[in-house]
Amino acid sequence: MTQLIDTFGRNIDYVRLSVTDRCDLRCVYCMPEGFKDFDTPENWLNFDEIERVIAVFGRLGVSHIRLTGGEPLVRKNIPELASRLAALEGIEDLSLSTNAVQLRKHAESLHKAGVSRINVSLDSLQADRFKAITKGKLSKVLDGLMAAKAAGLSPIKINMVVMKGINDDEVEDMVDFCIEHDFTLRFIETMPMGETGLDASDRYVNLQDVRSRLEQRFELIPGVMPGGGPARYVQVAGTEVRIGFITPISQHFCETCNRVRLSAEGTLYLCLGQDDKLELRPLLRSGISDEGLEEAIITAIARKPERHEFNDKPSQIVRLMSKTGG
Ligand code: 5AD
Ligand code: SF4
Repeated sequence: MTQLIDTFGRNIDYVRLSVTDRCDLRCVYCMPEGFKDFDTPENWLNFDEIERVIAVFGRLGVSHIRLTGGEPLVRKNIPELASRLAALEGIEDLSLSTNAVQLRKHAESLHKAGVSRINVSLDSLQADRFKAITKGKLSKVLDGLMAAKAAGLSPIKINMVVMKGINDDEVEDMVDFCIEHDFTLRFIETMPMGETGLDASDRYVNLQDVRSRLEQRFELIPGVMPGGGPARYVQVAGTEVRIGFITPISQHFCETCNRVRLSAEGTLYLCLGQDDKLELRPLLRSGISDEGLEEAIITAIARKPERHEFNDKPSQIVRLMSKTGG
């Protein structure tokens, strides 16, 4: 089987697939207030097109697909898409990143469709704060989480973007919550992602400090997490709970980057923090062959940049996370 190895020796075996750039929340770090400049759904790849592209990736050695957005569950029939992708040759691992607002009604069908594990964004356990950060309702997210647990999705990872003066006093509470429910917890450094409703540099918290703070209350044992990606993990002593630290700013992890991102409109972004890309939609809609697609993807991977430049050029990014696919 051909493998996707870039010029820095990295094996690309993971595609983050955005199925919509829309979302039913408005997190301050993600979109500008009142943002309306969404893609037109006619430009979204349809399920047949997505299946075709992912089948090619599967033949090229990609084994992990993550459904993302925007919020993937605002697009209709995601469990159907999930089962089509799970059935493809080479695709061994299908996961989902969601805000969990609509997870209660979909958890079971997603699990049956072949989604094995999920990541859920949760930045606060206080309803008023949650509302201030996301404009949404905390109770729906908690219901969604409990439904996911009941449906057998495992592991369930909670992603918390730590923001100074907004939610950084809740890190201990979040650990307690994850111990109570047997969730994995990941802290994420706020990244500058264009003109959002938040000045990322103002709110930035170094996760080393968070770790030191937690060590005063919990015994943390250095550990590993299978499929843990860029997070560095510790385990809370006496529990099964793992805590990951995702530090794109204080310690980038570009050397081990194994992923590319496919946007809802069919643009393959080679790096979260760079503009390098391949537009697949025009190719698909002008009747390219599977061999042609394979070749175009292999050529694009060869252009994958070495690293992001969030620190050197924090203002460079003009693309919102909801557009690239978290
Ligand atoms: N900084 C860090 N993480 C972000 N996300 C979106 N925008 C940002 C940002 N500016 C990530 C978070 C969130 C998910 C949907 O996308 O992990 O939980
Ligand atoms: Fe939606 Fe995620 Fe952006 Fe929040 S961070 S607005 S949940 S896409």
